[in-house]
Amino acid sequence: MKFFLDTANVAEIREAMSMGMVDGITTNPTLIAKEEREFREIIEDICAIVDGPISAEVIRTDADGMIQEARELAGIHENIVVKIPMLVDGLKAVRQLTAEGIKTNVTLIFSALQALMAAKAGATFVSPFVGRLDDLSQDGLVLVEQIVEIYSNYAFDTEIIVASVRNPLHVLDSALMGADIATIPFGVLKKLAAHPMTDKGLKAFLDDWDKAKK
Ligand code: E4P
Repeated sequence: MKFFLDTANVAEIREAMSMGMVDGITTNPTLIAKEEREFREIIEDICAIVDGPISAEVIRTDADGMIQEARELAGIHENIVVKIPMLVDGLKAVRQLTAEGIKTNVTLIFSALQALMAAKAGATFVSPFVGRLDDLSQDGLVLVEQIVEIYSNYAFDTEIIVASVRNPLHVLDSALMGADIATIPFGVLKKLAAHPMTDKGLKAFLDDWDKAKK
């Protein structure tokens, strides 16, 4: 399973890179806005650090506007994946961009039928938002399970990026279902590595070592 980091923060990316845990990056307008830096500068910095797919999102919502923005974004670096919102116009844009060889990530996926349509349009990636569904008392992981099954039934090449990840169980269950990728906030990534029994066990080992040396 590939791990993407869901952030526009360069310090977080460097730290996660040093752990060997970054196969790609996803950003969105909210994550970019948090950084209070120029959009293009952030994307260029990320491209210089990470050798993997880097999602940058369009702002326009009409097909022509999205296509134009996508071409500009794709021109920044060969690893750029253009994030397109799941709209009818978004599907039109994905179809055209796919024909031009520009990689896309259809974002804000909340139903399996949306994911099916995005794959038929030729999307490189789709991003089902599990945490935001959980917030509405709908099981976000059921959506992931459905998309995995549909893509497997018809052998779509579109890869599934589990997005809006809020906790380690989202990552564990997605991995068990066979989702291709989880895009993980830095805070959750650190939690994946942690277990209180590891800390307790290590403390006991080190205490015993110290006692034996006295
Ligand atoms: C996905 O690409 C999005 O950036 C992200 O996962 C959204 O997560 P949120 O629901 O925590 O904002």
